[in-house]
Amino acid sequence: MINVNFLLYCSNFFKRAVVITSLLLMVLSLRSQQIVADSAMVVSAHPIASKVGAQIMRNGGNAFDAMVAVHFALAVVYPRAGNLGGGGFMVSRTANGNMYTLDFREKAPAAAHAELYLDKQGNVIEGLSLNTHLSAGVPGSVDGMLRAHERFGTVSLADLIQPSIELARVGFYISQDQAATLNRYEKELKERNENIPWIKDEIWKSGDLVQQEDLANSLTKIAERGWSGFYRGETAQQIVDESKRGNGIITAEDLENYSSVWREPIVGYYDEYKIIGMPPPSSGGIALMQILKMIEDCPIHKWGPDNKKTIHLIVEAERRAYADRSKHLGDPDFYDIPEFGLLNTYYLESRMNDFERKRASISNDIEPGNPPVLESVETTHYSIVDQFGNAVSVTTTLNGHFGSKIYVDGAGFFLNNEMDDFSSKPGVPNMFGLIGGEANLIEAGKRMLSSMTPTIVEKDGSLFMVLGSPGGSTIITSVLQVFLNVTEHEMGMQEAVSAKRFHHQWLPDKIFVEENTFDSKLKGKLSKMGHEFEMRRFIGKVDAILVKDKLLYGGADPRGDDTASGF
Ligand code: GLY
Repeated sequence: MINVNFLLYCSNFFKRAVVITSLLLMVLSLRSQQIVADSAMVVSAHPIASKVGAQIMRNGGNAFDAMVAVHFALAVVYPRAGNLGGGGFMVSRTANGNMYTLDFREKAPAAAHAELYLDKQGNVIEGLSLNTHLSAGVPGSVDGMLRAHERFGTVSLADLIQPSIELARVGFYISQDQAATLNRYEKELKERNENIPWIKDEIWKSGDLVQQEDLANSLTKIAERGWSGFYRGETAQQIVDESKRGNGIITAEDLENYSSVWREPIVGYYDEYKIIGMPPPSSGGIALMQILKMIEDCPIHKWGPDNKKTIHLIVEAERRAYADRSKHLGDPDFYDIPEFGLLNTYYLESRMNDFERKRASISNDIEPGNPPVLESVETTHYSIVDQFGNAVSVTTTLNGHFGSKIYVDGAGFFLNNEMDDFSSKPGVPNMFGLIGGEANLIEAGKRMLSSMTPTIVEKDGSLFMVLGSPGGSTIITSVLQVFLNVTEHEMGMQEAVSAKRFHHQWLPDKIFVEENTFDSKLKGKLSKMGHEFEMRRFIGKVDAILVKDKLLYGGADPRGDDTASGF
């Protein structure tokens, strides 16, 4: 059933004056220098990691080689999210157009169960899924990197890890942003660990040197022994010992049994663009496609980015997609996900049936939908394109800043606190305020639902954009907005990434906005429609590459130290 109200809203009759507003917004939006390259490019959260990856490709390596080198380099120079002790997702498109997605998400240890974080009365024990040894899932990053390398790599593993070993041993100088982060989290890092050798007692400042000998040793073991250098032997034992020290439940068997999974990508179309996204256990691919499909028929390129109709429409679509996420998405190896129903055109049209042009919906009135059952027919992101035409989009995470903040004694890296991405109890929000249900309850060996949205976009059969973001629940909407900024609002890659962002996730029922996202007049109009607002310092931190006229345009997010490097 079509909602006439919605059709009217989306029709082309409405005024075009917004073009001027959008031009103004483009001029006023945050900017940083646009990096352009002829052949290959890496955009990541740290300049050293981007340079390491670009150098690998300059020496003849491909995007998958660069991915491995960048991942391990980020584990050294960006320890708050780069990791050995976390997990993530890779979306890739090879030069011949084939698509591959790899799920290296952490898994619940075998001893985990649905009541893990509940007290005797069945109430959630605050902090248990976030701040303790019990909050860590079995790490997947090393397995993921090695599997992708085994399939697509051309440079030896030892050569790809060597730069990171040197960086860990010789050290690197921290930035202003990193000094501020370390000062903010130092107390918790010290409280939760007896000894992090490189954490000092004085105030951190830009230019301080960080040397990580233990991490260099752990990386050396991976370079020399591959999978067994992490999931077996000394490093595995250090992880198990660390877990035991704090009453955690990760065992040697959990590590031995860890294996990442090649999955079928979520593929959908938005106008002339083909979107290649990550399937569950990430919600990113499905939620992004749902939102795009709910807004596709509306002329938002005419309305412009800074227009109440554009924002109201996107917020209402986001509200409905996140409501669906709460009920229908989880680990597909444990829960039957109605994937095709959730992406069905008629279903998505029906989701907007109660859309009102002039009034914000109330999230408590918006239930998760009933998709038809159809037959099957603090995170970080990096984007890479190589000189052969391969593209890799990877989002990886420890969950919180420095994950659980628990440092594996002697091994030199932090354990994730990804278990908080499970639903500890139906209806009780996690640290991102996200609500979950049966689909995402804790079970032994299950992967927790994610919002990570590594994405690749094709246009006319050719590679067009590679993008992704950290930011927990805001990842999906950050990717959405950067995509729309380029495709609907005709921004360049850097401009699209730098532009201010907003976010709605069904519950809590409010629009999260960065400072100065909307001017007071626009905010007033949206408030009158019933929308409520909450300020966020940053929403997402997108690193992206646009392919245009045979050139690569980098979009490195100025919200961090993110840098594009290419040749
Ligand atoms: N840990 C954040 C996410 O996976 O969505």
